Amino acid sequence: MHLYDVVLFLHIATLLAAIGLGTTLHHAEWSTRTATTVGELRAVTRVYRRGNLFPIAILLLFGEGAWLVHLSKKHGETFRFGDAWIWTAIVALVILMVTGGAILGREASSYAKLLAATPDGPIPPEVRAATFKSLTWATSHMNTFLAIAVVFNMVIKPAGAASAILVLVIGIVIGVLIGLAGARSRSVATT
Ligand code: HEM
Repeated sequence: MHLYDVVLFLHIATLLAAIGLGTTLHHAEWSTRTATTVGELRAVTRVYRRGNLFPIAILLLFGEGAWLVHLSKKHGETFRFGDAWIWTAIVALVILMVTGGAILGREASSYAKLLAATPDGPIPPEVRAATFKSLTWATSHMNTFLAIAVVFNMVIKPAGAASAILVLVIGIVIGVLIGLAGARSRSVATT
């Protein structure tokens, strides 16, 4: 066993942890569709604050990835930061970090404040609107599918930038469409 294999394992383990966290948050997100009271929303969405762990995963993915690039020469491969599947992954991580902080983190904390300030009982229209904001649903799902698209590129390693970018764009579009579909289902929790 080489150091390269250990670092690759850590890279994949970090990805599993991030996907596990993402799945937990998406489960909470989709569970809001059947919530009928503010109390239920509060209980279901309490886990949103755990989104603050994503920056750690992003930094680890980058650090381990960069280490793998560095070790690749000794391991018989020569990966470079200029390879399309690598630099596009770095761009994807920047997108995840920026949208995660500027949109999802900010929205999650203002949503938690709104729920804390709303008395228990039926869900008022402003809370319903904040629960099913298209921007947050689209962004959260976009980020998950962007990460899955990066996995595709990491495995396939497309040589050209056009193919690597196309894969990421497809991931983004699928994620946004699923997110928007979820946000539109706000009519479910009407009583
Ligand atoms: C969202 C971000 C990322 C995800 C989801 C991800 C995922 C993965 C996965 C699943 C593998 C295993 C592929 C395989 O063994 O066939 C892998 C390998 C690798 N990743 Fe990443 N990665 C990400 C970011 C990065 C970054 C930013 C870099 C470079 C700075 C990087 C460099 C590498 C390298 C060099 C390998 C080893 C490829 C091989 O040995 O065949 N990764 N990554």
